[in-house]
Amino acid sequence: MLESLNPEIISFKETAIMEIANFGRNYQKETGKHVFPAWFGEGDTETSNIIYGKTIESLKKGKTFYTYQNGIPDLRSEIAKYMNEVFKINTKPENHSVVTGGMMGLRLICDLIVDTGDEVVMVGPVWPNIRSSVLLKRGSIKEISLQLKDSEWTLDYDKLISSITSKTKMVFVNSPGNPTGWEMSKKQKDRLLKHTRDLGCWLVSDEVYHQITYNDLPSSSFLECSNPNDRLIVINSSSKSFNMTGWRIGWITHPEELGSHIAKLVQITTTGVPEFLQDGLISALQNYKDITKQLRKSLKVSRDMMFDRLVNWKQVECSIPNAAFYAFFKVKGINDSLEFSKKLILDTNVGVAPGIAFGQSGEGHIRICFAAKESFINQIMDRLEPVLNKS
Ligand SMILES: Cc1ncc(COP(=O)(O)O)c(C=O)c1O
Repeated sequence: MLESLNPEIISFKETAIMEIANFGRNYQKETGKHVFPAWFGEGDTETSNIIYGKTIESLKKGKTFYTYQNGIPDLRSEIAKYMNEVFKINTKPENHSVVTGGMMGLRLICDLIVDTGDEVVMVGPVWPNIRSSVLLKRGSIKEISLQLKDSEWTLDYDKLISSITSKTKMVFVNSPGNPTGWEMSKKQKDRLLKHTRDLGCWLVSDEVYHQITYNDLPSSSFLECSNPNDRLIVINSSSKSFNMTGWRIGWITHPEELGSHIAKLVQITTTGVPEFLQDGLISALQNYKDITKQLRKSLKVSRDMMFDRLVNWKQVECSIPNAAFYAFFKVKGINDSLEFSKKLILDTNVGVAPGIAFGQSGEGHIRICFAAKESFINQIMDRLEPVLNKS
């Protein structure tokens, strides 16, 4: 049966994050033992009641019909207001399109830009779904890898700039980055944007973690140094900033003239985000200051709890992230992070994401999501310590 399906899809490999999650879930089913899941990138805090309230109200009002492909006008206005306030920029509602999560935003943008053989330059290690979205369009990836030097993730910036040439169709940057938490500085963003502007290639910036920082300020955006005609697209999401991973709603910021083309792609994929969810996002954006303040406060507690121990462990080489919510660290002596992660499940019942999921430059590392309650962090750290802190 399978031979009659699209061979490209059939041969497409699932990500190592899904592979480890499936391995862990099977192990749990077969043994009845609980596996502590720290493999996915999401918090364990429920969406705030304010957001639920608005969503339920909207459902009760019967907002259950097909809706605008780029998002309802009220939401696009609210997004523009939010983006302008957070980044001190001057966008219009027409610069923003609502999509079914950051993931769908990435897919649609790859559909719009990437064609067979197109060169895409990206900074790695990088979230696997980004790589997959490019590969599905048969783009060719050139990765410039961050290096862990003196407990900091650092980018060979000149190498990045010189690798972007007239052959490059798209540059992809995810800052704050998943898995490393690395942030590109404002100055570097400015120079990179100038370089892509001169070459006429697209710059796609995934900024879904812009509110997840530990200095009470949002991380900077490429939009802060852009012109309205720049070939710049910014991907955003409600998932991380507002604890709304399961809601599947995000937005793309783009030059105005792209709006109608994004609308066509939305039409033939999801046909738009349900209106009641869009009303929920309006209330999240209207209350963003309170929601993100609380979120950052609790994430900082979790981060510090984890790193107070991790930095001292003998088998670990790590950088304390200033953004995003992951501990991504090197484990001494391992060269097959998938096998190591499977063994961790068997030996400690803790499920982590193997570094290889984030590309070759992630091999030898593992990622733990620390967006979790104190008791969860304490339990997984107690379980991991005998393995990662042995002499
Ligand atoms: C870097 C990055 N971009 C985009 C996404 C997608 O987020 P969502 O589809 O939940 O909005 C994620 C989720 O983990 C991510 O880590």
